[in-house]
Amino acid sequence: MTVREALAEAAGALEQAGVPSPAVDAEWLLAHTLGVRRSELYGADLDGRLDDFRELVRRRAAREPLAYVLGEWGFRGLTLVVDPRVLIPRPETEAVVERCLTLLVDVAEPAIMDVGVGSGAIALALADERPDAVVVGTDASAAALEVAEENRRRTGFDERVRLVYGDLLAGETGPFDLVVSNPPYVAPDELPRLEPELQHEPREALVGAGRELPIARAASGALRAGGALVLEVGDGRACDVAATLVALGYADVKVSNDLAGRQRVVDGRRR
Ligand SMILES: C[S@@+](CC[C@H](N)C(=O)[O-])C[C@H]1O[C@@H](n2cnc3c(N)ncnc32)[C@H](O)[C@@H]1O
Repeated sequence: MTVREALAEAAGALEQAGVPSPAVDAEWLLAHTLGVRRSELYGADLDGRLDDFRELVRRRAAREPLAYVLGEWGFRGLTLVVDPRVLIPRPETEAVVERCLTLLVDVAEPAIMDVGVGSGAIALALADERPDAVVVGTDASAAALEVAEENRRRTGFDERVRLVYGDLLAGETGPFDLVVSNPPYVAPDELPRLEPELQHEPREALVGAGRELPIARAASGALRAGGALVLEVGDGRACDVAATLVALGYADVKVSNDLAGRQRVVDGRRR
């Protein structure tokens, strides 16, 4: 079988399973199987790897997320290990990192706290893009922290990123220049209606309501005066979360959009 024929067979199977981008996913899976770039696929040789490829296609056709099947996923400038212990880092979270960088532009050697670090996406991207930063990441899931730890080691930020198991700020008192969090915000009754891929992600990373309030309360005790809190919020929740920050006494409360133009980031400064 040629590469073209293998891709056509896979794309057909994925399309039949309702995968939204069957041809592109087939290319990613075959490139991963053969250890080449997607752009190099058409000059590559299947080299006896057809069965391995078909196994990955079978998993994807069962609607396992592409990121889990590949075992890694790109986030900002990093490639992170991901598996069902952690949420797959999303494009909207890249906008959260962008907003953090903007808020820290005049802060030298910033001390940063990432509440609910998951794979380490936000914490490690900030360490990568602010080489003078020190970052603490917490998580209430010991399993998620194992993945964050692996990513910390692979990215080489062991010196500047510390990972702590526990609830919210896990007893860390700062003072921090920035507290950032992408808390769980999918409503429990919403989950069954969402795409099948989400059912593979950890429930404790996805499902939650009103988590911004305890995070904002805890953060206000650990931020320096003038320090910033940055929260990713669910679609349609930005105004409510902004009002919560105002009610808690945060100043300069602002809502920003993600790349798709949706209001997904809310921030404010501790007075
Ligand atoms: C939506 S995921 C975000 C993961 C990662 N920061 C990202 O943006 O891709 C939320 C994370 O918060 C963690 N979490 C949930 N409740 C928590 C709590 N009370 N304290 C600390 N972490 C919590 C979950 O285990 C999960 O890893």
